[in-house]
Amino acid sequence: MSKPLNIGMVGYGFMGRTHSNAYRKVTNFFNTEYKPVLKAVCARDEAKVRGFADTWGYESIETDWRKLVERKDIDAIDICTPNNLHHDIAIAAAANGKMILCEKPLSMNAQEGEAMCQAVEKAGVVNTVWYNYRKVPAVTFAKQLIDEGRLGRIFHYRANFLQDWTISADLPQGGAALWRLDAAAAGSGVTGDLLAHCIDTAVWLNGSMKNVTAMTETFVKERKHNLTGKVEKVSIDDACAFLCHFKNGSLGLFESTRYARGHKALYTFEINGENGSIKWDLHDLHRLQWFDYKDEGPLRGWRSIHVTDSDHPYMSHWWVPGLQIGYEHSFVHHVADFLEGVEKGTPVCPTFRDSLETQKICDAVLKSGKSGSWAEIE
Ligand SMILES: NC(=O)c1ccc[n+]([C@@H]2O[C@H](COP(=O)([O-])OP(=O)(O)OC[C@H]3O[C@@H](n4cnc5c(N)ncnc54)[C@H](O)[C@@H]3O)[C@@H](O)[C@H]2O)c1
Repeated sequence: MSKPLNIGMVGYGFMGRTHSNAYRKVTNFFNTEYKPVLKAVCARDEAKVRGFADTWGYESIETDWRKLVERKDIDAIDICTPNNLHHDIAIAAAANGKMILCEKPLSMNAQEGEAMCQAVEKAGVVNTVWYNYRKVPAVTFAKQLIDEGRLGRIFHYRANFLQDWTISADLPQGGAALWRLDAAAAGSGVTGDLLAHCIDTAVWLNGSMKNVTAMTETFVKERKHNLTGKVEKVSIDDACAFLCHFKNGSLGLFESTRYARGHKALYTFEINGENGSIKWDLHDLHRLQWFDYKDEGPLRGWRSIHVTDSDHPYMSHWWVPGLQIGYEHSFVHHVADFLEGVEKGTPVCPTFRDSLETQKICDAVLKSGKSGSWAEIE
């Protein structure tokens, strides 16, 4: 008999949908002691949040997140709001003894992130940040191959996250759907939004970074602000590229932009080691490209591994070998890992503390982008 774990979710946008879907699916595929119950969803517009609750099967609604975090019938708070709200909601949720699943990036900056870490650690509550790409089976498989030492000494780590949706100078900033262009709501542009994913994966696969040097650019300097109606300065980074030294001696190269015409969500990474190389591409997320230097003769070449067999990470829970899964399943895996952590009393990775490292790197990247100098990671 499974035990209920009551979820209170704040925000019903893009991530609100992916998470709700994951809570509903997880126990159909994973044998967990706890079963998520969609207890309440919260957002400011009552009619809209009620419509969302009806669509996804939430039992109740709130229009003020402060009420939600105080409710006695909620076990876990899921933060799916713009970045400027993560800190206040997480601190209040921890003070009320709630477990917390927070969307990425953890916070607006490392100072806020440190306070959030201290709050969950003091309260002793289970906490995790939704860096969901770790939970794509091919990416988890890459982690296994690296941890087994198959690549040998690592020389290079390369990652891109490219989009093209903000090229028009007529696009306003701020408010619903466009908060990502407003530094007051987002904290930063592509660095916190897209590179944060690349950095989280990189640190997980290849270890900590020592220092970074970055260039950032804001191509459209002014945009109408939806909340004030006035044309205002744009303070986010539209594009960012940075180099880094990893502590293991390898070199990193990262690029992200929302001005790469033709690209919608091209997240790729490549790792080159002395014995082999690995490549992954979000557009083909169920495949891992693998080159093994041990392969001899004319058949040597890149292998394209279809990560769908039951001995691949997470895949024994899904269909039969050869049938692939998609983007939304990475969130189902994250919930499965969360429920396992709750059951066993083990940390749910990435924790707030793990994700603070990504936050510190984002801060250093933005600092270096402004100063033009190398920035050390604390
Ligand atoms: N893990 C990922 O791959 C991924 C992908 C997209 C977004 N995100 C992150 O998820 C978070 C949300 O992004 P999104 O794309 O879902 O945004 P969104 O704009 O689609 O949704 C944001 C939601 O927050 C709600 N909201 C805003 N202010 C609120 C308030 N004061 N009280 C209650 N609700 C409020 C809005 O009503 C909306 O429902 C961000 O932190 C973002 O960086 C992560």
